[in-house]
Amino acid sequence: MNLILCLMRRNAYFSRLRRFSAARSDIWNDLMPNALPSSDACARRAALEILCLRDPVEKAARARALYESAFRIDTDTSFAEPDSLPGRPDKPELVAPSSLKRRSMQSDAGRAVLLHALAHIEFNAINLALDAVWRFPSMPQDFYRDWLKVAAEEAYHFSLLTSRLAEFGHVYGDFPAHDGLWDMAQRTRNDVLARMALVPRTLEARGLDASPPIRKRLAQAGDHASAAILDIILRDEVGHVLIGNRWFRHLCDAANLDPHPTYARLAEQYHAPKLRGPFNFDARRDAGFDEAELRALAELDEAASQKPAAPL
Ligand SMILES: [Fe+2]
Ligand SMILES: [Fe+2]
Repeated sequence: MNLILCLMRRNAYFSRLRRFSAARSDIWNDLMPNALPSSDACARRAALEILCLRDPVEKAARARALYESAFRIDTDTSFAEPDSLPGRPDKPELVAPSSLKRRSMQSDAGRAVLLHALAHIEFNAINLALDAVWRFPSMPQDFYRDWLKVAAEEAYHFSLLTSRLAEFGHVYGDFPAHDGLWDMAQRTRNDVLARMALVPRTLEARGLDASPPIRKRLAQAGDHASAAILDIILRDEVGHVLIGNRWFRHLCDAANLDPHPTYARLAEQYHAPKLRGPFNFDARRDAGFDEAELRALAELDEAASQKPAAPL
């Protein structure tokens, strides 16, 4: 019975995907005539409209379509913030991080929970990238192009993970999730420098560190299909953190700020999560962290390894 239910849900998910692809241009025309991704439409306004969408499949498809379209960027306009950003579906249920249990990756059920958690991160990452596009005016054109590219890549990651999740008989929304990523977006909503410091350079960079051990456990469990998706995500995420570093440094230069103490000040001011090893030094180097920053992380790692172990 469970198997039949799973297959029905999986088929319903794929038929929704197919229906959406076929109807995509009609939807643009019928529902959001002002959001058409053409050379006449402002991509920042379109990004805000996509951010408001509640259906994750539609949101991911439109984020990718927007980046692939010829668009115009109006850098100067400030848009009014709609209520209750971001648009998201009724499920997954959002709960406190501490109430989410870790599952073994040896079982299909455990890997489905993991894939769902990763898909939720990617759904939030689409929202975060779109938010950077519409929210902060007066940045160079390349800033918006970069974040539109990130939104499209996050949408691709979301699609890869939800397709794989469907092979386990589940859809996005089947398991609870937490809201830590969007919480940081809220805290930094009035400060583009803090957003660049604390979302791509902190939260997304933690993903670079987290990826290799997860990938290893998936491969050990024989799930090479899911491990291959993690490879694609890690490759792209290095680029996202690099973009964060690029614009963080650009903003520091423009304000004549030293990036190192500025980062430390912002991390404290906005209560960023404390950095903890092990760190993926190669990926972080490729993502634009400088040698002084990498040395500071190595010292953190070293200090943590010298702490006496907690009593059992
Ligand atoms: Fe991603
Ligand atoms: Fe990312």
